[in-house]
Amino acid sequence: MIPPVEGDSGTGPVLVTGASGTLGGPLVGKLIAAGLEVRALSRRPARRAADVTWCTGDLKTGEGLDSALSGVRRVVHCASSQRGDPGAAKNLIDAMARSGPLDLVYISIVGVDRIPIGYYELKLETERLITSSDRRSTILRTTQFHNLMVRGCKALSSLPVFLVPSGVSFQPIDVGEVADRLVELTTGEAGKGRVDDMGGPEVRSSADLARAYLSHCGRRRPVVGIRLPGRAFSALRNGFNCVPGNARGRKTFDEFLREQSEQSEQSEQSEQSGQFRRSGS
Ligand SMILES: NC(=O)c1ccc[n+]([C@@H]2O[C@H](COP(=O)([O-])OP(=O)(O)OC[C@H]3O[C@@H](n4cnc5c(N)ncnc54)[C@H](OP(=O)(O)O)[C@@H]3O)[C@@H](O)[C@H]2O)c1
Repeated sequence: MIPPVEGDSGTGPVLVTGASGTLGGPLVGKLIAAGLEVRALSRRPARRAADVTWCTGDLKTGEGLDSALSGVRRVVHCASSQRGDPGAAKNLIDAMARSGPLDLVYISIVGVDRIPIGYYELKLETERLITSSDRRSTILRTTQFHNLMVRGCKALSSLPVFLVPSGVSFQPIDVGEVADRLVELTTGEAGKGRVDDMGGPEVRSSADLARAYLSHCGRRRPVVGIRLPGRAFSALRNGFNCVPGNARGRKTFDEFLREQSEQSEQSEQSEQSGQFRRSGS
């Protein structure tokens, strides 16, 4: 394995995979704000943007990767497709070996080695592929993003009773804070291996998070905990998805929910004022 090196090891752009995703989006903005030249990978047709070069490529087939990686200094790998992550990582590493960039920063999930969920097992396999490759790698594991908790709450609250897994807690984190940490890792020392895990500011029970979500939406539902069987839920009940000692995140779930409301109110207001102007009043 290649030893770590101090500081940035060259010039050229940083390639962000998964740049169109929940994490990749804010990460691209923050890397640009940090003064880096950014190339963004997506399977969709390349868009035009003033401050970032979009490249079309598919990690599953390897198509477009050589050209996306040409002249690139470092890669931040955020793309994920649930089932194909190890194959995608292998294609990325092989293309990196052909095209030159040595350094890879990878985002993973807290507990991938202790919670037997299919997706986590694939993330762990991907971590292993990356660390055993001849690229210099840095791996950050974080807890669930606030966005994911909201998506889960939205789906579960569609029933008259909000069922949650009893005894299971989460430590959700703001995706912008994860992106900030990835900027630090991308601009800092290369090849640090696995760095300290990162979690949100609070560990809260699933029932508590469900109630916070319902109260934010102004909806009423009984929240009922059910004890779910299986090794995965047992691992979750053991708290293997949380890192209370590494509560690096600052933005709480309630603050995130408030921010979301403010943003949607603002966009409604600007839409209304647009309609008002268009109607010629
Ligand atoms: N969500 C969480 O709570 C959480 C917590 C900890 C860690 N993570 C990790 O953080 C990473 C990003 O998560 P996210 O929630 O931001 O994901 P996301 O919003 O689902 O975005 C996934 C991205 O992957 C890209 N992608 C998928 N298949 C691809 C392929 N074959 N070739 C090229 N690009 C491909 C998609 O790009 P196009 O569709 O534009 O091609 C998209 O931008 C993942 O590795 C995830 O495991 C997530």
